[in-house]
Amino acid sequence: MTSESTSANKFANTSALENISSAAAKKAEGLDENVQNLRNRQNKFAENLHGDDVSKTGIRALFSKNKEAQKAAVSKYLKHWDGLTDKEAEEKRLADYNESTHSYYNVVTDFYEYGWGTSFHFSRYYPGENFQQATARHEHYLAHQAGIENGDLVLDVGCGVGGPAREIARFTNCNIIGLNNNDYQIKKANHYAAKFGLDAQMRFVKGDFMNMDFEDNTFDKVYAIEATCHAPELKGVYSEIFRVLKPNGVFAVYEWVMTDKYDENNEAHRKIAYDIEVGDGIPKMFSREVAAKALIDSGFEILKEEDLAKADDPIPWYYPLTGDWKYMQSISDIGTFFRTSFVGRFITTNFLRVLEKVGVAPPGSVDVANSLESAAVGLVAGGKEGLFTPMMLYVCRKPAN
Ligand SMILES: C[S@@+](CC[C@H](N)C(=O)[O-])C[C@H]1O[C@@H](n2cnc3c(N)ncnc32)[C@H](O)[C@@H]1O
Repeated sequence: MTSESTSANKFANTSALENISSAAAKKAEGLDENVQNLRNRQNKFAENLHGDDVSKTGIRALFSKNKEAQKAAVSKYLKHWDGLTDKEAEEKRLADYNESTHSYYNVVTDFYEYGWGTSFHFSRYYPGENFQQATARHEHYLAHQAGIENGDLVLDVGCGVGGPAREIARFTNCNIIGLNNNDYQIKKANHYAAKFGLDAQMRFVKGDFMNMDFEDNTFDKVYAIEATCHAPELKGVYSEIFRVLKPNGVFAVYEWVMTDKYDENNEAHRKIAYDIEVGDGIPKMFSREVAAKALIDSGFEILKEEDLAKADDPIPWYYPLTGDWKYMQSISDIGTFFRTSFVGRFITTNFLRVLEKVGVAPPGSVDVANSLESAAVGLVAGGKEGLFTPMMLYVCRKPAN
């Protein structure tokens, strides 16, 4: 055990975490039969696809998939993404948000870890600061904005494989429940927590943020990083966050939204939003206005609304997706920058094409790489034109009464 983990565990409130996660599991047993069936099916599917060993990462993990299950996962995900943006196509994607997002993260998690690490979000990048430092700082900033303190009981909504939760737990000595609907990511997050000696301070549990299994007024603070954009309707997820937050508790979020410059009726704008949707497993990108209204309609008092992408930073948030070497701040970032840049993605996709043909890479790997490519194109275009931000910061309070 490292000295870092020893000091973290001093602050662990393991019994509170146990109580919350077992109460949630109990509540889940009483769920509607259809929801239970969906969860059981998703869990079995993930086990079949990824196997038991979640310690492998990146390309090594990608190559050890069950090939038939991988093929099914890719087609499950891509079935709603036919290039259409009419009402009917959108409604299908919104109705299938849970299964579709689950499939999306089944097929992209290893790609994300390969390219980005274990925190699946953008950051502000400062001169002289490397990628990992920037990622951690972006997480610390949100924890600071939420006012997370030593010993707080915190919910991480849409926690990925737990990169931000581990960083925030170390930074603040809080205790965290991570909520996620992807079974593979939950296993990975619990694996990493144990690996880094933080398992007494956090639990990662299965659930749908549109219908959480937690009791009312459970958490001191709630945060979400680039996750609630997967909701079919923002008021649904924000109302659930409001319900499980204690009165006076704070919710802080980095939200993905289309900015006020975005015009849904402008074809070029809609194409950018569609590329982001298809490549990131998002049923529908909502506007800033919709997000702010959804927070207020859920009962929150908005303390702060700030688009951090507008801060006029010398290095743009989307730089890792470009091929602009001039933005790279540290030699240690060469690998990350190369893998995420246009050229690196081009090489990876073509490498996968060959490996998929000869049966080494699982079928569908190139389709996944292509849809991630659409995401990168949409994100950079949206960022450059100021139509999209991945860091609309909202800090909100649940009123005392
Ligand atoms: C872009 S990732 C961000 C992960 C994490 N916040 C981070 O920054 O590393 C979005 C996360 O939201 C989760 N998610 C999407 N839809 C969800 C839902 N309906 N309920 C719970 N989690 C969900 C995904 O499984 C994924 O872990």
